[in-house]
Parts: sequence; structure tokens; C-alpha cells
Amino acid sequence: YLKGTLYDALGGERGIETIVEQFYDRVSEHPELIPLFPDDLTDTRRKQKQFLTQFCGGPALFTREHGHPRLRARHLPFPITPVKAEAWLDCMGRALQACELENDKAVQELYQRLTLTAQHMINSQV
Ligand code: HEM
Repeated sequence: YLKGTLYDALGGERGIETIVEQFYDRVSEHPELIPLFPDDLTDTRRKQKQFLTQFCGGPALFTREHGHPRLRARHLPFPITPVKAEAWLDCMGRALQACELENDKAVQELYQRLTLTAQHMINSQV
């Protein structure tokens, strides 16, 4: 089990920042995901840092600026198929490996939780 928050176990602000940077570097090159995302991912990266911070038990940065996450509702404008969810998770899995964070258990726990969340975002079968 993990002592303290997942946020702390991942290295706090620095850890989340590294994960998000590595993740969108991969999203921006993934043929399944490129068409969904804006060309400039600056703001997307910023929002994801805020979200993952609170998702991992850190300060509620996302809610403070944008209100309740309502993550599934926020994704409804985008057709998210099982293939796209798999692509998202593939980018995240490779990003987490590239980060070489010290706490393996924490990384695994994050990936598991994100797998469930990604599956929950599926809103289209085609
Ligand atoms: C926003 C795609 C899963 C968190 C977005 C955007 C797209 C997208 C296209 C809009 C980007 C922008 O306009 O800046 C996807 C796809 C997923 C997925 C294809 C596959 C399952 C997830 C998951 C999480 C997540 C699992 C949780 C960690 C967010 C957040 C935003 C966002 C926080 C910003 C929402 C806002 O604009 O306020 N996503 N997403 N997404 N996504 Fe996802």
C-alpha cells in the first residue's frame, strides 16, 4: 500500500509536470489522437496538470479554476471509441515508463486508475 497521497508518492508538482509533458509529446504524434486535439497543446497540458494533481490527491487546482471536473461530460464533444481510449492509455503507459519515477507502486496505481477513467470516457463505438 502507499503511505500518504499518490501525488506525494509521484514526486508532487515536479512528478506530475514530467508525466504530463511526456504524455502530450506522445499524444501529439499519435495518428489516432492528433485529429481530436488542438495543434497547440499548451493549454491542454496546463489543464491536465491541474486535473492530475487533484486526481492524485494534491491541491484541487482544476476545480478551483474550472469547477467540478464532470470529465465524461467534458469529453462528449469528442467521439471517444475503444480504439482511441486504447491509444490514450498507450501514450500514458509509454510516458510513465519514460519518466523513470522512483516509486513503482505509485506509478502502477496511477496507471490502473487512469485505465478505469479512460474506459469511462468511451462514448462512441465508431
Ligand atoms: C480534454 C481526449 C481520456 C482528462 C480532452 C480533450 C480531448 C481529450 C480531445 C480536449 C483538449 C483541448 O481542447 O484542450 C481524450 C481521449 C481520451 C481521454 C481521446 C481517451 C480515453 C482522458 C482521461 C482523463 C482526461 C482518462 C483523466 C486523466 C482530460 C482533461 C481535459 C481533457 C482534464 C481538459 C478538460 C477541459 O477542457 O477543461 N481530452 N481524453 N482525458 N481530458 Fe481527455
